[in-house]
Amino acid sequence: MSVNTIALNRQMRRFDDHASVWLFGYGSIIFKADFPYLERRPAHITGWARRFWQSSHDHRGTAQAPGRVVTLVPEQDAVCAGMAYLITPEVFAHLDHREKNGYLRLVTEMSFEDGQVAEGLIYIAADDNEAFAGPASELEIARQIAGAVGPSGRNSEYLLKLAQALRELGAEDHHVFAIERHLLQLIGQPPVLSSAAHP
Ligand code: SIN
Repeated sequence: MSVNTIALNRQMRRFDDHASVWLFGYGSIIFKADFPYLERRPAHITGWARRFWQSSHDHRGTAQAPGRVVTLVPEQDAVCAGMAYLITPEVFAHLDHREKNGYLRLVTEMSFEDGQVAEGLIYIAADDNEAFAGPASELEIARQIAGAVGPSGRNSEYLLKLAQALRELGAEDHHVFAIERHLLQLIGQPPVLSSAAHP
């Protein structure tokens, strides 16, 4: 169903001789840091929009009922908030395995809350990867997410944890929050009052 990107990512030698590298996470990497890191800081990147446009049959769905997870799509002036982790290059072996379903390492610049800027890496699933699902309405995406579960758990858990993590970062993301609202309605749960996150 999809091309495994581990071998391609291993050829990325850019930071091999660095003592540490910044990794910018915008999806599950924000709320599930299952890897060692030296430092963790809220950050953002510009020119990219977070979208639930990537299929997942290995983590949050199956081949029969794939889930949807986030990737980034280019969008002028878009600001994507996330979490940056300072890691050692050895950690990429684990990340390459975790992100193997279509995600490639890409060098990017990220900005921290204090205005500092650093170069680092993101994992991005571009529109030419076989698991790229592409656009759909936020309601359709919520329906697909509601019905998907895979080895890493329910797809709805991925969405709800991401939305919660973004709220904790004080980040605005209409796409993610709209899908969250639809999902909560579909599963009969009350909506999250987003103002509660910004006292
Ligand atoms: C990321 O979190 O930065 C990549 C996408 C994901 O694993 O959900």
